Amino acid sequence: MADEALAVELTGITKTFPGVIANEDVNLAVRAGEIHAIVGENGAGKSTLMKIIYGMQAPDDGTIRVRGEEMHFKSPKEAIDEGIGMVHQHFMLADNLTVLENIVLGSEPTKGIQLDFASGRSQINEIGAKYGMDIDPDALVESLTVGARQRTEIVKVLYRGAKILILDEPTAVLVPQEVDELFVSLRELKEEGETVIFISHHLDEVLEIADSITVMRGGRTVATVDPDDVDAKQLAELMVGSELPTPETTESTVTDIVELSIRGLEALSDEGRPLLDDVSFDIHRGEIVGIAGVEGNGQAELIDAIMGILSVSSGSVHFKGEDIVDWSTKRRREDGIGIIPADRHRQGLLLQSPLWENAMLGHQTVKPFAKGPWIDRKGARDRTVAIIDRFGVKTPGPDVAAIALSGGNQQKLIVGKEMIAEPNVLIAAHPTRGIDVGAQAAVWDELRDARKEGLAVLLISADLEELIGLSDRLLVIFSGRIVADLDPHAVTPEELGSYMTGVEVEAAS
Ligand SMILES: Nc1ncnc2c1ncn2[C@@H]1O[C@H](COP(=O)(O)OP(=O)(O)O)[C@@H](O)[C@H]1O
Ligand SMILES: [Mg+2]
Repeated sequence: MADEALAVELTGITKTFPGVIANEDVNLAVRAGEIHAIVGENGAGKSTLMKIIYGMQAPDDGTIRVRGEEMHFKSPKEAIDEGIGMVHQHFMLADNLTVLENIVLGSEPTKGIQLDFASGRSQINEIGAKYGMDIDPDALVESLTVGARQRTEIVKVLYRGAKILILDEPTAVLVPQEVDELFVSLRELKEEGETVIFISHHLDEVLEIADSITVMRGGRTVATVDPDDVDAKQLAELMVGSELPTPETTESTVTDIVELSIRGLEALSDEGRPLLDDVSFDIHRGEIVGIAGVEGNGQAELIDAIMGILSVSSGSVHFKGEDIVDWSTKRRREDGIGIIPADRHRQGLLLQSPLWENAMLGHQTVKPFAKGPWIDRKGARDRTVAIIDRFGVKTPGPDVAAIALSGGNQQKLIVGKEMIAEPNVLIAAHPTRGIDVGAQAAVWDELRDARKEGLAVLLISADLEELIGLSDRLLVIFSGRIVADLDPHAVTPEELGSYMTGVEVEAAS
């Protein structure tokens, strides 16, 4: 039955990507005029679902109703015409233009054939005043704080006539005071009768502002609850699920030789916000230490600090008997710290370049890739062939461009090039994200074999099966701090959920 009291109603939405079911038989009902929060771990399918409502992605199956009427959006333009607007996780503003230009671009008010910026400016001021969003139309976007950029994005969406606003993790990038300001505006929007759908990992936040909360897990909507009926702990449990995967039961290969020792590591953002707060742990030879946590709680910063990409304000990283905090990234790499980066397209590969050039990345200064100051092409090609053979990379040869490979084979190349260099320490960030199950199993086998050979691994992942299956120890990171040190064989979903969402905080031993 069509229901006009529902701003958005989804039934049976399914969306697959190669090897991944992002949304599976999802049902969601958002009442008109409410603030509806969507929570769920990384990869639960939240952003995909929002993009489907916004017409950016077409579902394979299922129906979308807006105010009771069935929709078949072929583009965001069509969704915008129905009064749906979305602010993405990553802002999409042009830095070198003003707030006014950014907002008016694409839907310019025209007066004759001239752009009517005067009318744009007054409308922006009106929207800003109405919803308590302070923005200067003439400021250059590049000069704005993150909070002001976000306000610009929201005003842009409202300017286009949105009555249903989708905000994908709006608070992830904000400092607490900015979160408060955003919430004031969201309440104003609600007062005016608009509908807000927003994604957040912060359960305390969600409980404070939402009128209803839908929990997603593994591509499905598992529950919609009233914030008055649940507490953060119950929400956390719904997010994590009632059953955790069973860890691998092989004999421990953990030795008592410390390979990497981190003490009191601290890093600050440009605004002085703590990114890493007193982080301390050791990784032993033959050990996999897993980092669990909701994305954006310091995982990326921890990796960057260990690799020397992010400078730390205090603390030490001991490796091979020395504090390496002042070492360059190049030296860390050359001395035996390998990395499987989180984003293989942006950090791990040169997509247009041949595999043999890709195999050199991060190792281009050492044998067999370098001969004195020169690149050793033959050495590089031979090594690439060796990686292809040993790690089963499916490719016609070392000269094809990386872009020609499937995601799984690209990842095998990245894992292979790091493993074959025989590092002492390996940082594996989301090593199997977005790849098919066959390639995933191959990568897991490689990590287990390398551990047996004595490799010390720091595993960062959003995949609980991977974390629990591989890790010898599980550290939980929240707000830049290690808040728990858990045994993956004994951890309960309740514990993990509580720590990951900051409900429970206990200094790790
Ligand atoms: N464009 C895409 N191509 C392939 N896989 C994708 C794409 N977008 C999302 N996925 C996959 O779909 C799953 C759900 O992703 P997403 O909707 O972004 O989750 P969330 O926003 O909850 O973190 C993940 O496994 C992700 O890797
Ligand atoms: Mg997302």
